[in-house]
Amino acid sequence: MHSWRQILSTLALLSSAVAVPASSAVTSAPAASPTVPYASDDPNLPLWNESENIVPEPIRSSLGLGASVLGPQNIPIELQNPDLFAPPSTDSGAVPNYKWPFSLSHNRLQTGGWARQQNVNAMGIATALAGVNMRLEVGAIREMHWHIDGEWAYIIQGDLRISTVTPEGQVYIGDVSQGDIWYFPAGYPHSIQAKNTTAGGAEFLLVFDSGSFSEDSTFLLTDWLAHVPKEVIAKNFQVNISAFDHIPSRELYIFPSAPPPVNPQSDMVVPNDTPMPFTFAMSKVNATQTSGGSYKVVDQRTFPVSTTVCSAEITVEVGGMRELHWHPTEPEWTYFISGQARITVYASSAQATTMNFQAGDIAYIPPSFGHYVENTGNSTLVFLEIFRSGLFQDISLTQWLALTPPELVKAHLGLDDATIASLSRVKQEVVGPAH
Ligand SMILES: *[C@@H]1O[C@H](CO)[C@@H](O)[C@H](O)[C@H]1NC(C)=O
Ligand SMILES: *[C@@H]1O[C@H](CO)[C@@H](O)[C@H](O)[C@H]1NC(C)=O
Ligand SMILES: *[C@@H]1O[C@H](CO)[C@@H](O)[C@H](O)[C@H]1NC(C)=O
Ligand SMILES: *[C@@H]1O[C@H](CO)[C@@H](O)[C@H](O)[C@H]1NC(C)=O
Ligand SMILES: *[C@@H]1O[C@H](CO)[C@@H](O)[C@H](O)[C@H]1NC(C)=O
Repeated sequence: MHSWRQILSTLALLSSAVAVPASSAVTSAPAASPTVPYASDDPNLPLWNESENIVPEPIRSSLGLGASVLGPQNIPIELQNPDLFAPPSTDSGAVPNYKWPFSLSHNRLQTGGWARQQNVNAMGIATALAGVNMRLEVGAIREMHWHIDGEWAYIIQGDLRISTVTPEGQVYIGDVSQGDIWYFPAGYPHSIQAKNTTAGGAEFLLVFDSGSFSEDSTFLLTDWLAHVPKEVIAKNFQVNISAFDHIPSRELYIFPSAPPPVNPQSDMVVPNDTPMPFTFAMSKVNATQTSGGSYKVVDQRTFPVSTTVCSAEITVEVGGMRELHWHPTEPEWTYFISGQARITVYASSAQATTMNFQAGDIAYIPPSFGHYVENTGNSTLVFLEIFRSGLFQDISLTQWLALTPPELVKAHLGLDDATIASLSRVKQEVVGPAH
């Protein structure tokens, strides 16, 4: 057995034998002898500019990788997904697909609106959360219904009125506008109606706390009553059977109606009496500014009724990036509101895939999978991180390294002291362009 002191003096001797000044071997701690080669220093820059009118080729010439396409090309899709078409050389293995554009969802058109969904059938990795994009014209109603999963919603545009009644017989009616949210616990009955706005109604995002949720399998008021014998209905409500001569023979789902009264008070049978509100004016929360953008988090701490879903609204300025991070135990369903982005998901075991996103796309990131969200466009990137959890949590890679003994970090990454000292000990969340 050799001690480190013996090894160091042997190294010093060897160095002087090859005429390297002895001091260099002794004064700085020896870098761990590399047991594996260094990672490539190829920066993997974009291969083309999207605005250019080009035929993209899957060729990374700096690495001698790829070849031209001889067969057919779907150029619009290739240009939208450059990091799939010609992946960075750091990608490896096979991370399951984690991108779904709502534009690929089968839409359900109704008089008064439409709805399209993404669930585990569309994207197999998304086991814990599912989403619906819904549009209601002025006055249109998403019919009174309930379902076995909890529902969280974000208003993309317009104004809506929602209502629910709790198992305790308490009532809540509330209004929401662009950037606001609501939450209905699993099984709670609710209604959704677009108010009279100049925007022409409303469009919103619904996120459910199960990946197998289906918007086509909710429990609807009309659908139920159409499937109960009429005399049972009459007995249940203790009224004459003729009162039910005009109930629909099948579900309405989304249908037109007169808009609700402007003042929610005049829509209330009894005053609201739930202990907690089921809506939250997220639009009124001030975002925390960072060097590269801003973020706001709304979870159980400010919106206590929302016990299974929470969210962060993130803006990333041009050239900036949501930093390398992960969420310890929280599955993430990401929705892009504006701008362009790329994400690399790191799934352990040398598995990493980079994908590109634009407004209207969904990403799904399982718990603990490392990732970043980079603004790759020329406008502000805005997106929502939505979690299957009551509480928002993340781990910043930079903060972890900054708060770990520097010698440990150095032993892993071979960074110099100045670089380690420069790492932010405060979580950045969103960083600016590269220095
Ligand atoms: C894309 O455009 C920028 C700005 O004009 C330029 O610096 C860059 O080299 C271009 N990249 C490619 C791959 O053409
Ligand atoms: C931003 O990008 C879009 C699409 O790539 C392009 O059409 C537009 O000209 C760009 N705008 C600026 C200011 O560069
Ligand atoms: C909506 O409001 C406008 C302005 O108050 C009014 O003119 C219009 O009739 C309303 N539309 C409906 C469908 O009630
Ligand atoms: C229910 O209403 C119809 C029509 O008004 C009437 O003929 C009938 O007798 C009523 N039935 C009962 C049980 O009251
Ligand atoms: C948000 O910021 C505005 C402008 O700085 C300020 O007037 C307002 O009080 C802030 N709101 C909250 C809830 O902190």
